[in-house]
Amino acid sequence: MGIQKVMVIGAGQMGSGIAQVCAQAGYDVKLNDMKQEFFERGLGVITKNLTRDVEKGRKTEDEKAAILDRISMSLDLQDASDVDIIIEAAVENMEVKQSIFKQIDQIAPAHAILATNTSSLPITEIAAVTNRPEQVIGMHFMNPVPVMKLVEIIRGLATSDEVYKAVEDMTVKLSKTPVEVNDFPGFISNRILLPMINEAIYALYEGVASKEAIDDVMKLGMNHPMGPLTLADFIGLDTCLSIMEILHEGLGDSKYRPCPLLRKYVAAGWLGKKSGRGFYVYE
Ligand code: NAI
Repeated sequence: MGIQKVMVIGAGQMGSGIAQVCAQAGYDVKLNDMKQEFFERGLGVITKNLTRDVEKGRKTEDEKAAILDRISMSLDLQDASDVDIIIEAAVENMEVKQSIFKQIDQIAPAHAILATNTSSLPITEIAAVTNRPEQVIGMHFMNPVPVMKLVEIIRGLATSDEVYKAVEDMTVKLSKTPVEVNDFPGFISNRILLPMINEAIYALYEGVASKEAIDDVMKLGMNHPMGPLTLADFIGLDTCLSIMEILHEGLGDSKYRPCPLLRKYVAAGWLGKKSGRGFYVYE
């Protein structure tokens, strides 16, 4: 199963990063979004990343130009008609993803793989709206994509071994490390990370220590690059809450109960860095 042409759906934070690493690895990439300005914003981020690489001597001007040359704009899902793989990185919403998958299933060639970068939605449920569930797979990149080495590859219930292998090979070609995971709520990354963050919020809620102290313990004592409360602010507290709810509902264990303080912050609109205030205040 030779993969040469890639379509990335969603030119946001993740989609632009995925398009960049695919183009860097030599793939032709169609970067799809709903409006030209969204594509241009994504391309702007890619251009900035590549310019920084040139300044730091990691790439030449020619390499930068060749990478940008391999990325083309798409504003229409019909452009999926000649690609080998589609990596969907639109918003984290089941209805939106199922609608996209239904459409691309009709448009993409029969051999094409349909992958999603979802961080928490069940792959099996997305695959179920297509006529090719054995060719649907999770390809969970980490943020920021050009920097982070891991790709969690999630097998849906029906995903074939052949498709898994093709995506694993592609991941290696992207200079990333693939890790195989089955389709359960939160996969591995968020199943372990989010309960840790939730526990840090409980520790704050119960008055065990100040927010700074909690972050310092994990940074200085466990060598984490960032404390859990700071990390929660970066991820977005609404996203943290929604993943905890998926774990709680999907696994049915009270150990995944979202901390009431997390709910309160989200209700207040204190969503972390993006809203200017979460556990910390951002200028
Ligand atoms: P974002 O909000 O930065 O980007 C989403 C993009 O998708 C936007 O440009 C939007 O215009 C576009 N879009 C929405 N609906 C579309 C449609 N029907 N067709 C084409 N484009 C559409 O979001 P972000 O952070 O890039 O997340 C994207 C996906 O990646 C989500 O599923 C998220 O859960 C997942 N993810 C996010 C991570 C993160 O740290 N932000 C990490 C790993 C996965």
